[in-house]
Formats: sequence, structure tokens, C-alpha cells
Amino acid sequence: MSQSLTLPCGSSLKNRIAKSAMSENMASVDHQANELFVKAYDRWAQGGAGLLISGNVMVDSRYLGEPKNVVIEKGREGLLNLKKWAAAGTLNNTHLWMQINHPGKQSPKFLSHKPVAPSAVPFQSSLAKLFNTPRELAHEEIEEIIERFTYAAVTAQEAGFTGVQIHGAHGYLVSQFLSPLHNQRTDVWGGSLENRMRFVMRIYQSMRKAVGPYFPIGIKLNSADFQKGGFTEEDSVQVAQRLSEAGIDLIEISGGTYEAPKMTGAPAAGVKETTIQREAYFLEYCEKVRSRVSCPILLTGGFRTFFGMEQALEAKACCLIGLARSLALNPMFPSQLLSGESAVSEVKPLSTGLKSLDKVVPLEIIWYTQQIHRMGRGMNPSPQLSPLVLAITSAWDMGIQSLFRVRN
Ligand SMILES: Cc1cc2nc3c(=O)[nH]c(=O)nc-3n(C[C@H](O)[C@H](O)[C@H](O)COP(=O)(O)O)c2cc1C
Repeated sequence: MSQSLTLPCGSSLKNRIAKSAMSENMASVDHQANELFVKAYDRWAQGGAGLLISGNVMVDSRYLGEPKNVVIEKGREGLLNLKKWAAAGTLNNTHLWMQINHPGKQSPKFLSHKPVAPSAVPFQSSLAKLFNTPRELAHEEIEEIIERFTYAAVTAQEAGFTGVQIHGAHGYLVSQFLSPLHNQRTDVWGGSLENRMRFVMRIYQSMRKAVGPYFPIGIKLNSADFQKGGFTEEDSVQVAQRLSEAGIDLIEISGGTYEAPKMTGAPAAGVKETTIQREAYFLEYCEKVRSRVSCPILLTGGFRTFFGMEQALEAKACCLIGLARSLALNPMFPSQLLSGESAVSEVKPLSTGLKSLDKVVPLEIIWYTQQIHRMGRGMNPSPQLSPLVLAITSAWDMGIQSLFRVRN
């Protein structure tokens, strides 16, 4: 766990622990990073992880995943604030990578009247109440989004971030292009896997050209979408192979979408019982993909104990351990893991006590986001925060925002 790791581009990470992306949702009204980011990332950089990955930074202010996302676009880069954020997150020889994202159809109604996506496929199930049916992107718009991803990567580099990560997982735009369920196009961007992966390959190649050969570029990729007719494990292995051959520095493995939120451990239809019982949710997939790629694999989701992490590293299922919620509750957890075997994550199942409320509110997200906000204000995370109070305030907040915040 304490061994360093050299990436294909030549950069080196000081150990095998990474903080995975957690959307901070605390940018200022003009979508810029601010002092809250500096305080939270200073804290994480002191916590001992070799790599910190930022929460998702959006490439277009018309299409947000959450109201207070940081956005990078031409004319509103907020370079000074990004530089302060990067300086805090790279203390202690820590790597800080910016995760770059476009939500595609996963932009809620109160933020987007008409979100965009590869195809105009409506949401399934209860989520249809929260998300509008997207419109299909035109070819020129797809080219423009590739430029936007590239521009964000160049800006991150200029600001002092030490790498970038393409968000290709969790049902956002890149992941929508990869999925035959969400991408039903008949042009060069859809149909065969070759065509469906064109968008992500073009983003990677364009970024690489712009940031040069020595700057780390990674991707977060789904092992599968866990949706009928969606992106499968075999698709995922092939995409990972192609990205590795193209020179990507790190592939982070996760899984799921808003419709099948397997990334935070929610059981999904068709998942084997043995998979559910193992500590890391996507370990079996990593065991399959690792022999097919030459780049390092970062595995995220479910790691809670020193032994679970050591086992995954020793078995060479992955080269790096990704931790998200554990680090929102305890920013010093990496140092504790590096210094001894007794460290155990404080992450526990959450409930408001009301089953019907638990079903409709994204409790895992709002409760941990609140912990990050506490860190941003210079406070300690608090395991005592009431899930019920937070769920009610958040539902109220979203109702109010839906009255005032529709943007396009
Ligand atoms: C509050 C919160 C925000 C998240 N935001 C992001 C994000 O912006 N990008 C991303 O790729 N994953 C995001 N995730 C998912 C985590 O990176 C991670 O994949 C997931 O929590 C499983 O890891 P864990 O079991 O260590 O928490 C978020 C998770 C939480 C709890």
C-alpha cells in the first residue's frame, strides 16, 4: 500500500491510496472554485493519499449535474481560484487530478428543461419525474463538447493540477455514448462498439495532443451499467483495452448509473450474490480486465478494511485503492491505513428511519456532501449528522430550486 507507482506518462504517485471523486457541490454562484475547496483539499492532502481526484468539474454551464458544480469554459475559467485549489491539493507531494464531466441526460429538471444526450431516450422508472427526456445531440455539438473537455484539461494543467480524469462512468454523457441502451444513433457515433467508443477515444486523443505526453490522463469507467440492454462487461474490457493501447495512464473501475446506482453499493438486478458479499463491489471485473490492459487499474467502491485493500493489491486485481465516502468522514484515513492494520472505515449504512423517504432521497450523496461542506468550512466531519433532517432539508431545497433555477 505504501509503495510508489509510476504511471505510463512517467509521473509517480507516492503510494497506492487514491481519494475518488466526490462532487463537492459548493462552488460560488458563478460556478467557480473558492476558499471552501482550498480548505477541504488542504485537509485531504494532509491525510496521506498519493492521489486526490476532484469532484466532477463540468464543461458547459448550460448543462449541470448539480447546482453548485465548478464549470470551466472559455471566458469563465476562474484561473486564480483554480490555482489556489491546486496548490492546496498538491501539498505533501500529493497528486491532484481534476475530474472532467458533462452530465448529458443526467441533469435534473430544475437545472435543464432540455438536457442533451446521444439519443432522445427517456428515463425509466421513478426518475422520469426528476429528469426531462433529452434531445439528441447534433454532430457539430458532439465535436464542440470534445473541444470543451480538451479546454478544461488544458486549463487544469495551467492551474497546477497534476493530472485529469475523464468521467466515463455512472451514466453521464461519455457513459451514455458507450451504452447501446442510451446511444441508439445510426451515424458514426452509434451502433457498433467501435462507433460507441468513438466519443471517448476522440476526447482522450484530443486531450493528449493538448496537454502533451508527460501529463497524466485517466478515466473512470464502468465495469458495466447493470441495465438491461446497456454497456456490458465485455464491452467495458474492450474499451479499457483500446484506451490502454492509446496510452491512457490510469483506468478507475466503478459501475452503475442513476437508474441502477451500483457505484455506492445498491444491489442491482443480475449481480451474483458472491459479488455482493465481497468487500469491493467490482473486484471480479478487475480480475478479468487486468490481464487485458497494460496501464494501472484503480478500483473504487466498497473498500472498508486494511485487509480487504491489501488482499486486492496482493492478488494484483488492481494497483491502486480508491476511497470516497471513507475520506469524507475521516480525511486522515489514508495515513492510518499506511501506518497500521487496525484502521477501519467509519462508513455505515444510512437511513432516515422512514423507508419511503429512503427510497426517494439520494441519502448517500446528500449526507456525505454535507460532510465535505463541513471540511470546507474548517470543521471536522460529523458522524452524528441526522440523515432525516438532511433528507427533509434537501427535498425542500430541491423544491425551491425547481421554482427558480431552470436554465435551458
Ligand atoms: C457525495 C458523493 C459524491 C460523489 N461524486 C462523484 C463524482 O463527482 N464523480 C464520480 O466519479 N463519482 C462520484 N461519487 C462516487 C464515488 O467516487 C465512489 O465511486 C463511490 O462512492 C464508491 O466508493 P466508496 O464505497 O469508497 O464510497 C460520489 C459519491 C458520493 C458519496
